[in-house]
Amino acid sequence: MPVESSQLMEKLVALTKRRGFIFQSSELYGGVNGAWDYGPLGVELKRNVKDAWWQAMVRAREDVVGLDSSILMHPLVWKASGHVQNFADPMVDCKKCKKRYRVDEIEPEYETTGKAPTVCPDPKCKGELTPARKFNLMFETHLGPVVESSAKTFLRPETAQGIFVNFANVTASTRVKVPFGIAQIGKSFRNEINPRNFTFRSREFEQMELEFFCKPGTDDQWFEYWVGERRRWYQELGMNVEKLRFRAHDKEKLSHYSKATTDVEYLFPFGWGELEGIANRTDYDLRQHQLGARSIGKWEASETKDLQDFQLAAEDPEYQKGKLSYFDDEAKERYVPFVIEPSAGADRATLAFLCDAYDEDQIGGEVRVVLRLHARLAPVKAAILPLVKKDGMPEKARPIYEALKRRWQVAYDDSAAIGKRYRRNDEIGTPYCFTIDGDTLTGGTVTARERDSTKQERIAADQIETFLRDKLG
Ligand code: GAP
Repeated sequence: MPVESSQLMEKLVALTKRRGFIFQSSELYGGVNGAWDYGPLGVELKRNVKDAWWQAMVRAREDVVGLDSSILMHPLVWKASGHVQNFADPMVDCKKCKKRYRVDEIEPEYETTGKAPTVCPDPKCKGELTPARKFNLMFETHLGPVVESSAKTFLRPETAQGIFVNFANVTASTRVKVPFGIAQIGKSFRNEINPRNFTFRSREFEQMELEFFCKPGTDDQWFEYWVGERRRWYQELGMNVEKLRFRAHDKEKLSHYSKATTDVEYLFPFGWGELEGIANRTDYDLRQHQLGARSIGKWEASETKDLQDFQLAAEDPEYQKGKLSYFDDEAKERYVPFVIEPSAGADRATLAFLCDAYDEDQIGGEVRVVLRLHARLAPVKAAILPLVKKDGMPEKARPIYEALKRRWQVAYDDSAAIGKRYRRNDEIGTPYCFTIDGDTLTGGTVTARERDSTKQERIAADQIETFLRDKLG
């Protein structure tokens, strides 16, 4: 039974709080905007999303290796990458109601026309807006105890730069050969002007990024390849294809580093929203860091020198041969690889899977809330339910639970009527429940109940592990 879009978000936010998926950060102190805490079930769900990504993008492949780089990096990384100069959103303030807006959110044509709105979009206010100003989204911080400009750096706004600056380390320490990728999952921080739509736009979030290095000239082909791979990933995890779309960016709206970008979007209850950007970053980043690293003496953490000064190093005769170039043994040539980057948000994917899974139906005349999550994503894979807390049933149920727990996240639940326990598990997306009853004691069988259909079958108690292995993989 599809749930009205207008109600879905409210219901989902309530469910995620009630059942311990997601809480507002620092709620005890009144909360903090744009930061979220994942509770006991949320942390399992998000971890399963990240594991599914890591499995598909790293472990199942021969041509991708993993990395876990630091959040704090040398301040010049952010100058070289262009983030100090370009990573800014235009914003306006209402002089009357004091609300702050991202210009492109209230005027979608702003990027093309350059014309910022002048009147507050709140119909009750309609106050005068300030002219648009650029607001850099990076959080500033200081390395060490002295707050001085030379120690200033930023919390990373993307994990990608940690990959680029490790390109030479990875090629020197492993046997990877272009084409190959480096993948990373980790926290990123952006001081968003307007955090909103639950976890969708947060100030602290996790990214799942792959930087795939390829020979210039093969980049268009690899770009198409990764668009296809990423489509497959969402579909294999059960995402409704009608709510998934791939949208190519117009050339004039591309980021400063990109030759082509396709966004993966999901139809959230609040409209289409980006889950992932797949970009052809060309050789931009490796070249920038090559220049940055070579110019470091001239450029050391200078507040005044800008990218222009920095670019002068491009005349360096060794430019093509720098540390971040690659010698191709087969082609016997040296080049700076191009990069294809599928960059996904772990929190956005988690939110999309939750929205996609939320459903209500009727069981025995009562409304049932059910999260139809793919079994690989479900935070709890199975619940072991002794029918009653006596008559030898707990003694049968506990060892089953303990054996399964060695391999999967499973729950043991012996309180309340069995129907109520099934509903509790449906609501958090547990795909299978196993009930231990009188027949388990006499005949060694249990009831296996499937979440979506609510169908029940009897299976041998000693076959539960095989049953789950078949279903969960
Ligand atoms: N390295 C490329 C990059 O960072 P992006 O499109 O700015 O590209 C990639 O970000 C993904 O990170 C987005 O598609 C989204 O899933 C996630 N993301 C970006 N900003 C976010 C925010 N404020 N809150 C939650 N997720 C965010």
